[in-house]
Amino acid sequence: MKVFSLDSKDECSKIGANIILDELEKNKNLVLGLATGSTPELMYNYIIDNFKKRNLSFKDVKTFNLDEYVGLKPNYEDQSYRNFMNTCLFNQIDIDKNNTHFPVSYKEINVQNNYDSYDKLIDENGGIDIQILGIGNNGHIAFNEPGSELESKTRLIELTESTIKANSRFFDNINDVPKKAVTMGINSIFNAKKIILLAFGENKREAVEKLINAKSFDKNWPCTSLYNHEDLTILTDIQF
Ligand code: F6R
Repeated sequence: MKVFSLDSKDECSKIGANIILDELEKNKNLVLGLATGSTPELMYNYIIDNFKKRNLSFKDVKTFNLDEYVGLKPNYEDQSYRNFMNTCLFNQIDIDKNNTHFPVSYKEINVQNNYDSYDKLIDENGGIDIQILGIGNNGHIAFNEPGSELESKTRLIELTESTIKANSRFFDNINDVPKKAVTMGINSIFNAKKIILLAFGENKREAVEKLINAKSFDKNWPCTSLYNHEDLTILTDIQF
């Protein structure tokens, strides 16, 4: 694990973007695992601003997002993670949207309990080369909430009160926040060849500290599942 405690989230985001662009330069068929939320936004901006300058193209890149809400009310479609990714990244780079994947469509009504096909699709595409992660205050990665199993795969989950509260900032009313999501599992994430975890702000300190100090997996802090990943880089503006 490499931990970079940097001065600003700007600096962290630039480094994260450059890792992706450097890899894209070497491999035009890159498979990216992507996160939503406020954390990666600045990094996506850097990618948008720089890929053309570096003469790079996303046309052969495939992406797999970590998660998507289930049961989003129609007037909140703009809060879907599909919409977030289209707006914050996909519409502004030359990616083929057919190559951009989500574990479930936010429009889906008949949700299943198992989404093995998403993990299979990732495998069929050669696995994730670079996985981008944010982290929840409660240590969740993707929507693997405390209590998630190390071997968990992509699945339907119930969001915890703490996550619903944290996400309510994007909704008019906390009751409008979806209570369920489909998320890649801890095992699905761990299988990524390279992981970049971004963490900004003091409210993430406890979770990041748990990961940095972990000697084994602690179910109460899902982020600790990454303690022995062979290529994990943490980029944070929290000073340790
Ligand atoms: C988003 C995701 C979540 C977020 C986490 C932090 O796809 O998987 O785990 O990364 O909830 O959210 P922000 O970045 O909004 O603080």
